[in-house]
Formats: sequence, structure tokens, C-alpha cells
Amino acid sequence: MKVRVLLLGCGNVGRGLCSLFSGKGKELAERYGVDLSLTGAATRTHGCAVDPDGLDPRDVLSGRAFSTRPSRVSTMDLVETSGYDVLAECTVTNPETGEPALSHIRTALERGKSVTTSNKGPIALRFHELRALAKARGARLLYEGTVMAGTPLFSAAHPGFLGAEIASFEGVLNGTCNYMIERMKTGTTFDAALSEAQAKGYAEAEPGTDLGGWDTALKALILAQSFLDFPPMSLRDVDVEGVYGLTPDTLVEAASRGGTVRLVAAGERPCAGSGIRPRISVRPKFLPADHPLANLPDTANGIVFSSDATGPVSFMGAGAGGPQTAFAVLRDIIDIATGMKAGRK
Ligand SMILES: NC(=O)c1ccc[n+]([C@@H]2O[C@H](COP(=O)([O-])OP(=O)(O)OC[C@H]3O[C@@H](n4cnc5c(N)ncnc54)[C@H](OP(=O)(O)O)[C@@H]3O)[C@@H](O)[C@H]2O)c1
Repeated sequence: MKVRVLLLGCGNVGRGLCSLFSGKGKELAERYGVDLSLTGAATRTHGCAVDPDGLDPRDVLSGRAFSTRPSRVSTMDLVETSGYDVLAECTVTNPETGEPALSHIRTALERGKSVTTSNKGPIALRFHELRALAKARGARLLYEGTVMAGTPLFSAAHPGFLGAEIASFEGVLNGTCNYMIERMKTGTTFDAALSEAQAKGYAEAEPGTDLGGWDTALKALILAQSFLDFPPMSLRDVDVEGVYGLTPDTLVEAASRGGTVRLVAAGERPCAGSGIRPRISVRPKFLPADHPLANLPDTANGIVFSSDATGPVSFMGAGAGGPQTAFAVLRDIIDIATGMKAGRK
């Protein structure tokens, strides 16, 4: 069965997805019985490329597709009018408005098209609206790549906790901050740790979103709405403190107390009927050495859920990276495609 994919954004993630299509397309068709066809691609600077018979993902990678199969329409027109079954939204995250991804996703869902995105903005800021729209239009909205992108989290935990009520989570969700903390533990200064993280490609040239805790806050919003049934929320509902106040001395002192410090996102389901507006926190927290999040190496991420039916359950793994996040998007596409094949939307 042919499943047509429209890809928006050909940066680290979009390119990773093209590589996976190119390298694994045949194997996926044999294994899942779905022929994934890239019928459109768009970037901000190259514009749009369209081929109803399928673009060669290698041509998208090389940029050739944008000259041999160009389309003069805008990205939004492509979403609104072109033929596709799944929108893969991989454009840049806007933490304040979620745009332009929010409009892309809304428009696709309005058309009854299923969506996968690695873009945190729209999912964090408009989770309930988009989920309701997907449901109303009989489409699916998946977002595996938004949090702990290199670790299957939503696809494992949502079905895994069926029948249980998740009561709380604690997560280390930003690899840049984790890496810097690990380096400062060995005496490296904050500035030197940041330079190292930038040299290794772990930190952005403008690291404020990561170090200020805002990237973690967006992820925490997604987790709280997705797993704890929090109502619609915004960044104003998150108490955010980043890692700017941490020094090697803080970490030496934490070690002398038998633990370490991590940038921890925490959310707890309020008691029903308490009238308390739920809040989330993101802040550096002391963790004893035997805490599951205390020993995450380098850029690793981790999360611990507590539920009414289980003890603490932890997930650990890669948090980000172009190829890893592309895999999360591919996973969602296969999930949607195999569902279509089975007659589920
Ligand atoms: N990289 C990771 O490790 C990672 C992990 C988890 C989540 N994410 C999220 O995944 C998304 C993609 O990340 P990335 O690392 O691939 O970002 P990136 O390298 O900056 O690429 C973003 C892409 O979006 C395109 N774009 C921006 N506005 C557009 C528009 N209006 N229409 C069409 N294309 C547009 C850009 O085009 P130009 O190149 O022409 O400017 C670029 O190709 C982001 O939302 C990011 O937060 C990334």
C-alpha cells in the first residue's frame, strides 16, 4: 500500500528522514507492507518540490529535487492543496507562538490528514486544540520526536500504562544541560563546559533556550498534557529556573552530600476536585546517587513516572540528534501507515 508523505523542513531532522527513506525504504515495504513515498518537500530557502509519483529522497538531500521538481506555491499552499496522506512537520520550533508549524498542522488536520511532528512549539502550546481537531477529522496526531527524541517514549508509555493513572513525572530532558553538569562535576567552569558543548555540536550558538530551562519547559508542558491530563497550559504555568546559577563548586558540594544536581522537570497530577491549578517546575535539583536520573551520562535524557498501579518506571536514552529524531518521525509515519493499511485511520 502506498502512503504519501509531505515533509516540511529539511534540516537535521528532515534530512535524517530522507536518509532513512532512502536507506530503509525497501526493507520497510517488505516488513510492513507499506510503500512510503515522499510526494512533497519544503524548506524556507529552497522552496517547495512536488512529485505525485514520489520524489527521490536522495534528490531532496542534494537539493536537486528543488530545481527539477519545483513548485511555485508556498509551504502553506502545499499543505492546503497537495496530495499526501501524512504530514511530517519538521520546521523550526517557535516557543512563543508555535508558528508557522502550528498553522501547517492545523491545516493538515482540517483536511483529515494525519500528522507527525518533532516540533515542540505547537504540541506544547496547543496540545488539546490539535488533539481535538485530529479526533474530529478522523486523523492521527503523533509527536514521538518532541521529547526524548532518540528514545521511544510516548509509543511505549501510552500503551504501557493502559489501565493505570500516571500520577507524576520527573525528567531530565535537555542533553546540553546534562552534558554541562557532567563536565562541571569534574571541575570544568561553566563557560568552558559551554564552549566544549558548542564545539561538539551539543549546544546552539545561542544557548539561552536550553540553558535558561525553556526547552525543558516546553517538553514538560507536552508531558503534563499528554500523560497527566493537565488542561491547556502555557509557559506561564511553568516555574522555570535554568542552569546559569550552577558552578563546579555547587556540584562538588552535592557530591560531598552523596549525590548530584540535575536540571529536573517535574509535574504532579493534582487531587481531583482540589481546585488547585496544576503547575510544573523546571529547576536544578539535588538527587541522591541512587536516584534513577542521577547517573545519566553526557547528553542522555531520562524520565521517571509514578502511577497508581506501578512503582516508579524509568525510561532512559538519547534525547536529541538529527538521525535519532528522524527515526522518531519515521516510527510515527510507520505507525500511521500500518494503521491506514489495517483500515484504522
Ligand atoms: N535536531 C534535533 O536534535 C531535534 C530534536 C528534537 C526535536 N527537534 C525539533 O525538530 C524540528 C527540526 O529540527 P532541525 O534540527 O531539523 O532544525 P533545522 O536544522 O533548523 O531545520 C529546520 C528546517 O525548517 C525549515 N523551515 C523553516 N521555516 C519553514 C517554512 N515556513 N516552510 C518550510 N520549511 C521551513 C528550514 O528551512 P531552511 O533550511 O531553508 O532555513 C530548515 O530546513 C525543530 O522544531 C526542532 O526543535 C530537533
